[in-house]
Parts: sequence; structure tokens; C-alpha cells
Amino acid sequence: MSSPVPAATFKPSTQKRLLRALAGGSLDRPPIWLMRQAGRYLPEYRALREKAGSFLALCYAPDLAAEVTLQPVRRFGTDAAILFADILLVADALGQRLDFREGEGPVLEPVRGLDDLVRLGRRDPQTRLAPVYETVSRVRAALPGDCALIGFAGAPWTVATYMVEGGANGDHACAKRWAYGDPAGFQRLIDLLVETTFAYLDRQIAAGAEAVQIFDSWAGALSAEGIERWCVAPVAALVTRLRAAHPDVPVIVFPRGAGALYQGFAPATGAQGIGIDFTVPARWAADVLQKEATVQGNLDPQLLVVGGETMRRAAHQLLETLGHGPYIFNLGHGVVPETPPEHVADLVGLVRNWRA
Ligand code: CP3
Repeated sequence: MSSPVPAATFKPSTQKRLLRALAGGSLDRPPIWLMRQAGRYLPEYRALREKAGSFLALCYAPDLAAEVTLQPVRRFGTDAAILFADILLVADALGQRLDFREGEGPVLEPVRGLDDLVRLGRRDPQTRLAPVYETVSRVRAALPGDCALIGFAGAPWTVATYMVEGGANGDHACAKRWAYGDPAGFQRLIDLLVETTFAYLDRQIAAGAEAVQIFDSWAGALSAEGIERWCVAPVAALVTRLRAAHPDVPVIVFPRGAGALYQGFAPATGAQGIGIDFTVPARWAADVLQKEATVQGNLDPQLLVVGGETMRRAAHQLLETLGHGPYIFNLGHGVVPETPPEHVADLVGLVRNWRA
């Protein structure tokens, strides 16, 4: 596969702080980036979103998507940029009807069984996704030298929940009943997602992504056995293929809500980084998870809305607990639209000035 950037820039010897943290190096201060650092809380995002007309149009317009990716890097000086796209583009590329409605979130035509699955059949999902790879190479070319570019995708289970439920549905009952009641059939959907998601991330890396994150946002909806079968196993299959194709590109997994099953998740999947949600005690993460992988997280996004001394105290506590080991400062879930951008500037400044 042709790559627009020289292979040498992918070496872990790079000076970029995020990549050094993911290689397990000890740093004077951890890198910081925030999940959903691009988005509606930024006026400059809202302006481009308006210009694009719809959220999907924005995702598939490389010039606008690249600009939106760069906005928080310029404004705050984060140590990483995350590609502006969405985990549901994979469902769209597979031919499922997808719409993002104002105030309602994603709406999809539900896939409730194998009949619906075979009816999807877009012949070449990669053609539909090509503009995303173009965004990656544009961002990579425009990034400051010390800022790393993160590509991403949803984990098979999390994307499957949206495909089956037809949107953001609280209890995931349809997806869970299919998974528990007809595991062989549900495995077909998961296998299709492993395949398509591998190709999606493989091409993001070829276009210039230097690390990738796999979002398993709904891991916590499953039973412990369900997490082993429908989160750990497919993510492990994905990471194995990614590591074989791109041994120098680190992978961060974010199995939100995995609880006690956070322990062992990174070793079982082969990931270099483990994203923790805000329910995970930082002390426990330092004692247990930092022995297994680079820990990323986990400030509660609502603390970023509150800001001030309350936020700063919580951020300091995280730095003191996790900042002396392999660590990436982040939130425990994405930035919410109500967040004042000045609070983000304050947080990034605090982390950048802290010393281990
Ligand atoms: O800055 C970044 O983090 C990069 C871009 C990014 C988006 N979505 C943009 C987005 C990333 C990494 C995602 C991941 C994503 N998308 C996840 C995993 C992380 C998580 O939140 O758990 C999930 C579950 C989705 C699916 C999704 N996309 C939902 C449920 C929604 C609606 C809810 C909402 O916040 O509006 C989206 C829409 C979406 N994705 C927006 C953005 C900026 C808002 C849409 C808009 O601008 O109108």
C-alpha cells in the first residue's frame, strides 16, 4: 500500500510525547489530549459544521474535517490530534442507512438478524471511506512536529450495538438478545466488523495516523462473559492484525465500563494503551493497570464543565497518582457540548506545566 509519509517517521524513537508514553517511557510530564476535543463546545467547530450542512457531510469533506481536527490543537496546544470522523462511518460504508438528527443523535435502519445483514451489502466500503483517509493525510501534513495524529474506530461490539438498535438505545436489549440468544449468527456480524474495521484502521495508518484508538464505549452493557466474548475476543483479533501489519503503531483500547475486567484487558488484546472511564479508581489503575499498559484517562468530563479550583484539584490528584508511570492525561469520556473552552485551556496549561 502506498504511504504519503516516509516509513521512518513511524519509528517509536520519535520525539512525540504521546508515542513515547505509549512506548512505556518515563516522561517529565504526561502528554494530554481529550476525547471529543473537536466538537460543538467550540464556536469555530459550530461554524464549519454549519457550512458543511450536516454532520456526515462534514465527516466526508476532507478540507473541512482536516480543519476541524486541527482546531483544538491550534487553540489549546494538545499533544495529539484525533482524526475528525465517527465510529458509525463503518456502518454507513457497509450500506446501512445512517442519519444524524439534531438533538437526537444517530438514527440507523436496524439490522436485527442475518437477513438484514446480507441485505446491506455495499460492494466496496473502502470507496465510501476514501475521503477519511484523505483527511488523515492532510492533517498529518499540517500538524506541528511535536503533535501526534491518532486514528480511531469503534470496537466491533460498540458499532454492532448501534447497527442492531438503530441508534443510541439505553439498554441495548436487541443487541444483547441477539448476542446471547444466537451467538453463531451474531458472530457473523462481529466478523464482518472486524474485517471492515481492520481495513479502515490499516488505511488510516497508511495515510499517516501514528497511533490508533479503538472505542468500546458500550463494553459495560454486557455481562462479564459477554465482555470476554464480544469485546476482548474481537478487539484482540483486530489488534493482532494491526500489529502484524504495522508493528510500530501503538493501539489504545477504551473498554468503557469494563469494571473489574479492565485488569487483563490490555494484555489479552495486545494493546499498548488502556483508556479508563471515570469510575475506575486512579490508585487502582496505578497499582494494577500501569503494570500492564500505558494508562489513559480519566477526569470526569463534568469536572471540565465546572472548571476552576475543583477541576484543578482533581486534575492534580490524577497527575500525582498516575503521572509518575506510563500515562496519557485524558478525560474518562468525551468533552460535552456545555464545556467552556477556557476550562479546557486551563486544564491543558496545568498538565503542560506539571513535572513528575
Ligand atoms: O474530537 C474527537 O474526539 C474526534 C471525533 C469523534 C466524534 N465521534 C465526532 C462526533 C470521535 C472520536 C467520535 C467517537 C464516537 N462516535 C463514539 C465513541 C466515543 C463515545 O462517545 O463513547 C461514539 C459512541 C460515537 C457515535 C456518535 N456520534 C453518537 C452517539 C453521536 C451523537 C451524540 C452526540 O454527541 O451528538 C455522534 C455525533 C458526533 N460525533 C458529534 C461529533 C462532534 C456531534 C454531532 C454534531 O456535530 O452534530
